[in-house]
Amino acid sequence: MTGTPSEPAQAAASGDATAQKAFRTPIGTHDLAPPESDRWVALMGAFIGLADRAGFGYLQTPIFEDIGVFARIGEGTDVVGKEMYEFFDRSDRHLALRPECTASVCRAFAQHRPTTPWKIWYQGPFFRYEAPQAGRYRQFHQIGAETLGTDDADADVEIIALAADFFAALGLAQVPLVLNSMGDADTRAAYGEALSVYLQRRVGDVDSEDRDKIERHPLRILDSKREATAAVAAEAPQITDFLSPTTAAHFERVREGLDALGVSHEVDPKLVRGLDYYTRTTFEFRAASLDAAQDTICGGGRYNGLVEALGGPPTPGIGFALGIERLLLACDAEGVFEVPTQRAEVWVVDIAGGAAARDLTHDLRSVGIRADRAFDDRSMRAQMRAADRSGAEIALIVGPDEAGAGTVTVRPLRRPDGGSTDEPQRTVARTDLLGTLRTVFDALNAAAGDTDGSHSSGLD
Ligand code: HAM
Repeated sequence: MTGTPSEPAQAAASGDATAQKAFRTPIGTHDLAPPESDRWVALMGAFIGLADRAGFGYLQTPIFEDIGVFARIGEGTDVVGKEMYEFFDRSDRHLALRPECTASVCRAFAQHRPTTPWKIWYQGPFFRYEAPQAGRYRQFHQIGAETLGTDDADADVEIIALAADFFAALGLAQVPLVLNSMGDADTRAAYGEALSVYLQRRVGDVDSEDRDKIERHPLRILDSKREATAAVAAEAPQITDFLSPTTAAHFERVREGLDALGVSHEVDPKLVRGLDYYTRTTFEFRAASLDAAQDTICGGGRYNGLVEALGGPPTPGIGFALGIERLLLACDAEGVFEVPTQRAEVWVVDIAGGAAARDLTHDLRSVGIRADRAFDDRSMRAQMRAADRSGAEIALIVGPDEAGAGTVTVRPLRRPDGGSTDEPQRTVARTDLLGTLRTVFDALNAAAGDTDGSHSSGLD
């Protein structure tokens, strides 16, 4: 996990010993390639639209930070205590790959002191040394949003509604929202005390695998999935009984706001999150379609003391992060947000040396048409097969005759809805090509019954 380069590492870097080795992605990591990556791009686009309309700007922080930034997540948490990728750089700085972004966002706030409210969103890779399985990886990807500088309960509502709207935009219907309040620092301390006393009394009933948590992180007992522990947790004191009147009113206002916006939710006093910085509102969206061990697709809450803990002025904050991989597993399970079809609109078939394909694809792309071609001087048959596979509506064919005469043969292949077409092929001067393409696209769209032009090319 860490350290200065070892001898084997240096040998590997030199390449000698490993010249023939077929490398694979490290355990718990994945390559992302088309067509699945098209889905990620579409997903990001959907989120950016919503975040932008709600006034959130994009923040990018480093992939690694001084390890002290993440220590504030909580030394007793799994994320910091067991799963962090930490290392010393060549100048002996103690650094860590970011396991999450909220601490980095607060570090950035403390460093730059932007005007508040500071509403930002982020996305990117995060790293935790976990046991990999479906929905749990060592490098995973989050999208998140945070609002810093206000304790207004309506900011909580805005953040939660942003996540809910995003899931709705993807077509997800089975992602219930669970809500809790962790209270203020005093509440947490008083509750922690009461919980510890209770758990000490019931230690014998707690599953042996969970017992170390009683000392290390008693709150985590509450969300244990082990049967014996869950039975003990069911009878434990509830944090909602420890809330001060101000915090209880704040929580009530959040709930009212969610009701007003039609964001249905359930309160679960046992909802504790795996990170120590939470105060007041905490929440999770859990996918009913996923295995309970990995069903949390999105988690978040308030962290009113975190900026200060990182050397900034006292600054409240609220936010969420969602796991993209888990979110897409939930989409698969519900059969929504499928891979978008990315197809060429025009395919250039060039059997006269390739210069026309080179030039025409470039010209067509510059006027907004998705145009593509085959390489390597393939036969007419092979190029027509490629055109067909691409799903393009129109093939432009340039053979020796067309190349000599400065013409192009425009051959309609299919309608935009995939249906067949009897639209005739025609040979036109290169100078008339764009006009002809417009006519043929219009005819294909009309035949497909697309009167609103939603399938039309960039020519319109
Ligand atoms: P978190 O609950 O640790 O919260 O992670 C948020 C989401 O990231 C999880 O709900 C899950 O979907 C995804 N995730 C976490 N670990 C993994 C993993 N090993 N593999 C795949 N997906 C994973 C946070 O990170 C907080 N920073 C959220 C937050 C933002 N709180 C306030 N603002």
